[in-house]
Amino acid sequence: MNVKRILGIIVLVVVAIGLFVFDTLPKNGDVAAATGSSTTEATQNVTNSDSLDGKKVLVVFFSRTKGLYGGDTPTIGNTHQVANYIQETTGGDTYEIVPAKEYPTNYKETLEVAKAEQANNERPAIKNPLPNVKDYDIVFVGSPIWWGEYPMIVRTFLDQVDLNGKVVIPFTTHEGSGLGNTKAQLEAQYPKANVLDGLAIRGGEASSTTAKEEVVNWLTKIGIMK
Ligand SMILES: Cc1cc2nc3c(=O)[nH]c(=O)nc-3n(C[C@H](O)[C@H](O)[C@H](O)COP(=O)(O)O)c2cc1C
Repeated sequence: MNVKRILGIIVLVVVAIGLFVFDTLPKNGDVAAATGSSTTEATQNVTNSDSLDGKKVLVVFFSRTKGLYGGDTPTIGNTHQVANYIQETTGGDTYEIVPAKEYPTNYKETLEVAKAEQANNERPAIKNPLPNVKDYDIVFVGSPIWWGEYPMIVRTFLDQVDLNGKVVIPFTTHEGSGLGNTKAQLEAQYPKANVLDGLAIRGGEASSTTAKEEVVNWLTKIGIMK
């Protein structure tokens, strides 16, 4: 055997070993699948029958901060109260949508401002930095019903984050409209989200102990809590 032939065989063996080693290294997808670290993977696995285990929860809410009118001498808005119950039950993080321009203290004036915002399909600015929604698997989006739907400030939030691939759940407080069109809005906005059934609580009952019980029962019913 001449030297050239021996060298050729050595090169072939080295290349073969190299190919074998490369093929047995874990690829990105394998690592994500093994550790469950892929967000898409994690969220798609959440169904109505799964528990909260390992899933990260964000409770997003908007609530009036001035001219409060729920219950006796409220210190926080009705929806804020319900958001607190959801946070306490799930142990999740919260994010409050704070408008750059405050709404009036006066109820009737707020009705007028909100009506004009809706008629003009406005997107009022949000004051505080948006949360990094990529960090979460389950996102609650709660607010009062304003003129039958999410206030336009909530629509600003929805336009600025991508909740596709996540479990998304509406909740509202209201004085008769229930969930309004909030579930339909979320489904239209995020066609690849798993939008679960929401909870609507009468504004005047938001701070009652039965409201907290309702929250726990609802979270159990939709499979978020065991
Ligand atoms: C501008 C405005 C519009 C409202 N529109 C509706 C409505 O269409 N349907 C309804 O049931 N309640 C409506 N409400 C009542 C609120 O949804 C209800 O009082 C809610 O609990 C307030 O929540 P908050 O304290 O978190 O802001 C409206 C209230 C305001 C201020």
